Amino acid sequence: MLRISLLLAVAVIAGAAPRAALAQDQDQAKIKAGAETYATYCSTCHGDDLVNTGPTTFDLRKLKADERPRFENSVTNGKKQMPPWKGVVSPEQIDQLWSYIRANAYEK
Ligand code: HEC
Repeated sequence: MLRISLLLAVAVIAGAAPRAALAQDQDQAKIKAGAETYATYCSTCHGDDLVNTGPTTFDLRKLKADERPRFENSVTNGKKQMPPWKGVVSPEQIDQLWSYIRANAYEK
């Protein structure tokens, strides 16, 4: 019985490992795509590699995990000096931007 349980445990672990690795690859791909979109549309104002350039913009690394609705709203509709990005950046790109920003956030 013990042997069967052990075999079962090994089978479960062996099956889970590639899945976890795949999920991680997908995350990495999303973060990378987000970094590219950021460099194209956002870095001129928000700074290279998310490093904020001054007090008039907003340090995107300050965004917290529960601020995604705020992020999507500001990016889609614009805010004060920032133009709206609706129609320029697709919802999929916004999702990738969020992954990129979260991966570099001060507070994970
Ligand atoms: C033309 C310059 C400019 C560009 C380009 C720009 N932003 Fe901004 N962004 C700003 C400024 C200025 C603010 C601060 C607005 C304010 O006064 O609250 C800001 C604020 C923000 C905020 C915070 C808004 C809030 O809720 O307080 C987010 C999120 C943001 N930008 C995301 C982006 C993303 C993503 C991109 C690229 C698609 C981008 N920005 C491109 C100038 C820019």
